[in-house]
Amino acid sequence: MKALVLGASGATGKLVVQQLLNKNIQVRVVVRESAIIPNQISDDKSIEVIKGNINDFEIAKIKDLVKDCDSIICCLGHNISFKGILGPPHKLVYNTVVKIIDALQSNELNPKFILMSTTAYTNRKSGEVNTFGEKIVFSLLKVLLPPHKDNMLAADHLVYKLGSKTNIDWVAVRPDSLFDEENVSEYEIHNNKTRSPIFNPGKTSRINVSNFMAELVTNDKLWQEWKHKTPVIYNKE
Ligand SMILES: NC(=O)c1ccc[n+]([C@@H]2O[C@H](COP(=O)([O-])OP(=O)(O)OC[C@H]3O[C@@H](n4cnc5c(N)ncnc54)[C@H](OP(=O)(O)O)[C@@H]3O)[C@@H](O)[C@H]2O)c1
Repeated sequence: MKALVLGASGATGKLVVQQLLNKNIQVRVVVRESAIIPNQISDDKSIEVIKGNINDFEIAKIKDLVKDCDSIICCLGHNISFKGILGPPHKLVYNTVVKIIDALQSNELNPKFILMSTTAYTNRKSGEVNTFGEKIVFSLLKVLLPPHKDNMLAADHLVYKLGSKTNIDWVAVRPDSLFDEENVSEYEIHNNKTRSPIFNPGKTSRINVSNFMAELVTNDKLWQEWKHKTPVIYNKE
């Protein structure tokens, strides 16, 4: 089994790589030249490290990246810095999702595609509705914060452009406020948000996100349960 991990140098992405290796899955990562990657990744001979910026890759290169993969996990996100939040590329996640899906469709491939999304995404198709207050805050975020808009476009592409009547198998995992903890702990998965990400946010540890993603990769029953959905993940309180 082989998995492609995008954003593998990120706080969640590197945990995803570790979780996949624990399951004896071969891993291919794409990291920027400037990325700081832990020794466990750079020194591990079972990890194929491809250097470059996924945002600059042409579709032919993306096709090559995905052609022998059973799953693709995208943990890309904008760096929390002035340049990362306000500078280009404003559609890093969306553009990558579109290119990956195009590559899969044109090569008639159907690996599992997992997107790291967010509870800031409201899945209206599954019946979620924002309160008046949330509508105002999310509208402001969409205008003021390019990364928020990017995340919304990326999830919309899966939910509306692909939907469930598609040969592409996808899941968009939605953590709430991320934090770091060392070990996997108990977590709960919901079809819809059970709390307001703005006014009553829950917490999700990155290691639990990575654990759930790796389980989706290997557990076909779990995959069938969440395929074409946007599961919300909270740490158990
Ligand atoms: N913060 C929250 O509470 C929260 C909650 C729910 C969901 N999320 C979403 O989850 C995502 C992942 O979270 P995280 O904490 O694991 O993120 P992170 O540590 O910031 O990782 C982001 C990844 O994206 C890559 N990246 C950033 N800018 C790039 C660019 N211009 N071109 C190519 N690659 C680029 C980074 O590569 P480099 O190492 O090279 O910079 C890194 O691998 C967030 O970005 C957000 O969208 C966040």
